[in-house]
Amino acid sequence: MAIDTTTEATVDAGEPNEFGYRTFRLGEFEFSRNEYFAYVRWPTGSHVASADAFLKALQRDVAWDFFYGIVNFDGVIGTVNHYGTVDLFAGRYNDSYRKAELDHLENFDTPLIRETFKAMLDDWTNEGFDPFASPTETGSAFGPKNGDNKRAITRHRVTAKRMVGVRGDEQIRSDDSGFPMNRQFLDVSQDEPEVYAEPGFEDDVAAFNLFAYLSRSDVTWNPSVVAACKNSLACPTTEEYILPIIHGNDRVEWFVQLSDQIWWNVEDRDTGQARVKVVMKPGDVASMPADIRHQGYAPKRSMLFVWENADPKLPELLSSGRLPPVAVDF
Ligand SMILES: [Fe+2]
Repeated sequence: MAIDTTTEATVDAGEPNEFGYRTFRLGEFEFSRNEYFAYVRWPTGSHVASADAFLKALQRDVAWDFFYGIVNFDGVIGTVNHYGTVDLFAGRYNDSYRKAELDHLENFDTPLIRETFKAMLDDWTNEGFDPFASPTETGSAFGPKNGDNKRAITRHRVTAKRMVGVRGDEQIRSDDSGFPMNRQFLDVSQDEPEVYAEPGFEDDVAAFNLFAYLSRSDVTWNPSVVAACKNSLACPTTEEYILPIIHGNDRVEWFVQLSDQIWWNVEDRDTGQARVKVVMKPGDVASMPADIRHQGYAPKRSMLFVWENADPKLPELLSSGRLPPVAVDF
């Protein structure tokens, strides 16, 4: 069956299988799921992942529109964003698959892979399961197909043009706008700064309580743009349990730990070889190099400030060696 989602892309989806889930094809890749697992097949191999882990990764890749660099669903499957096209790969960044020549990579126009992933996320997500939520704040991903959860998988992505709270831009969160305080941030002050702009500057002077804003985040591991200055993007996020993807950087990324703790496993981006463990505590700052991949573990909901440089020239400057992969040499 072909699902026409946009005029740009036609999704190749099969009829529902005995468990009620459709099988999706993208180039030579095939994706299928049953009650517990997602399966990925390509001409030289196949892979299995737990359905909940796969959907949580798929949710990030869709919501972030393939993000910066590489989104590894795990050590085998993932995507590389070329900002207009996207590579879908199996084993490409896994030394063992590479050496055994079992890896596979195909490049797709972004609309085709985007619409296929969106359709798969929608078809495979059951009522009551929210792939963006922490494990204790959602239901089960497992079992035969049971309804859907379109509201959870199509959340508005916060992308401030200037800053949260500025007139005409993203607005602060409140009970009334559907963002109650999270159970683990009930002690966070909800005071908002008082702003007295000079006449004529009401649209240009603004301030908001970032901690209060983050205390009302209803998702985990989802960097939101709350302030932008040219290519400098402030993307804070709240984290709990495990980052559902392993992010491979294509630029230096800065982290400021605002509250609680995150343990980061940092690996070589291309081989997956372990490089370092970083345990970040409140106030810690890390500059993650451009040639690593990392996955975070947060034992309690925590606040992380991610600072991204959105300059589109960065991937080329780094891959050509004209920029070093680290922000500073000691
Ligand atoms: Fe990253």
